[in-house]
Amino acid sequence: MQTTTIQATPFAVSMDQVGKDYGKVAALDGVSWGFRRGSFTAIMGQSGSGKSTFLHCASGLDRPTRGTVRLGDIDLAGLKEAELTRLRRERIGFVFQGYNLVPSMDVRRNITLPLFLGGRKADEGWLEEVVHRVGMADRLHHRPSELSGGQQQRVAVARALVTRPEIIFADEPTAALDPRSAGHVLRLLREAVDQTGQTIVLVTHDPAAAAWADSVVFLGAGRIVDELVAPTAEAVLHRWDTL
Ligand SMILES: Nc1ncnc2c1ncn2[C@@H]1O[C@H](COP(=O)(O)OP(=O)(O)O)[C@@H](O)[C@H]1O
Ligand SMILES: [Mg+2]
Repeated sequence: MQTTTIQATPFAVSMDQVGKDYGKVAALDGVSWGFRRGSFTAIMGQSGSGKSTFLHCASGLDRPTRGTVRLGDIDLAGLKEAELTRLRRERIGFVFQGYNLVPSMDVRRNITLPLFLGGRKADEGWLEEVVHRVGMADRLHHRPSELSGGQQQRVAVARALVTRPEIIFADEPTAALDPRSAGHVLRLLREAVDQTGQTIVLVTHDPAAAAWADSVVFLGAGRIVDELVAPTAEAVLHRWDTL
């Protein structure tokens, strides 16, 4: 008996020879990389090395000048703007350094906003789980201004988790947090990988944050210059110094 298995790509997102120009500046210069499903990758590099541009191109927030970005098997270049927006809303989560919460909405409404925008109803069981995981169950009716920075960032993580995205991109989400709050946020991202098999791509300056990842990819002048697997904070620092 013959069975045919169609093997889905092992990558949540893959990039092939991706370049992005801003005028004469090549912010990305021929980047090829695949993010395996259920992996946690940290992206590091000097300021101006192209980390944010990398994240924006990989996540479909921005279109590259050259090369191909695929979400699973889907080539993002083939999508119209509205299709890309829908795909991002349904399958990709974001956590930004500045939280990006809506000041007039309470915690519950902020968390469920992506569902509301996508015309979807909250799965109450999952919502409860997410709220519990980020430790905000007793703060659901607080406004962002009534929360600490660490709490606001945990709300932003919950908002990214609530749609159960395949992949979550985070651009320096712990840069404004004290070490304890930062640890809490990083543990949430780690759990999203270990407990729900999601894929995380984290841009960070902090070797201690990078040490939560499975591997660290180093960018320099818009190119991938190195990778460090199973990083420790010490090894990251050392590699950083010898780049
Ligand atoms: N919108 C933009 N317009 C012009 N240049 C930009 C823009 N965004 C980024 N750049 C340039 O591209 C390079 C990479 O920037 P960026 O991706 O923000 O780096 P990083 O996040 O590592 O600090 C830098 O030289 C930056 O000045
Ligand atoms: Mg940046």
